[in-house]
Amino acid sequence: MDMTDARTWHGMESQSESQLELQSPSIADGIPGFRDAEAPQVFLLETARGAMKNNNYLVVDPVTHQAVAIDPAWQPDVFAEALAATRATLSEILVTHTHDDHIDLAIPLSEHYNCPIRMSREEIAWSGFEATRLLPLDGGPWQVGAMTIEPILTPGHTPGCVCYRIGDNLFTGDVLFAEGCGICFELDAAYRMYDSLQDLKQRLAPHTHVFPGHTYVRPPGQRFAELMRCNIYLQFSDRESFAAYRLRKGQIGRKVLDFK
Ligand SMILES: [Fe+2]
Repeated sequence: MDMTDARTWHGMESQSESQLELQSPSIADGIPGFRDAEAPQVFLLETARGAMKNNNYLVVDPVTHQAVAIDPAWQPDVFAEALAATRATLSEILVTHTHDDHIDLAIPLSEHYNCPIRMSREEIAWSGFEATRLLPLDGGPWQVGAMTIEPILTPGHTPGCVCYRIGDNLFTGDVLFAEGCGICFELDAAYRMYDSLQDLKQRLAPHTHVFPGHTYVRPPGQRFAELMRCNIYLQFSDRESFAAYRLRKGQIGRKVLDFK
């Protein structure tokens, strides 16, 4: 497993701070053993509702102890416990897209911690999402503490999907999984997904760690170079063949996760 400074906080069972464990030796910029003490810290918060499991994330600035939550859903106690354990203050909520399993807790957490919800204007227009502290993205990066947060508009799964780059980490929601990419519901959406993945291929450094909204086989935090090697949806070089594959039959219901 290839991860840097990512720790797991399980929502299914309460854990004390001492049980927050580094999942692998930290590696920064290819230098084994090197760890940037001021780099954003990524905590994986695994939450569940019934049979569904989500990857939520808490990203903490170790300099100021400000934190952002990404795609919070379902278990508010998980966030409260993780914030307490990291001694961090929740400053913002970043939403990749408005499907329920990525946004279920956005408004409750926003009200409880009095912090804004970030979302693309395209997603707001498409979904009609409303919240008192909703703050539409303006396209450019911004700061939370010492962390620079860069939104990358990546439509396809929904019209306003956004990936967020924070340091060497990319949070992809349902745009890009380790094993595949999010489902697209019609031809134009598949075209847009192809364009979005091509854009990511242009933008991302090979050592970027990818943190998706769901885990199927490979753990979150894989380097983009590894996804370029193993993810079939990153192999296409034209829109038509990508769209034909993405829209192939058998991709609904229980087979939605069949990436083969
Ligand atoms: Fe989704």
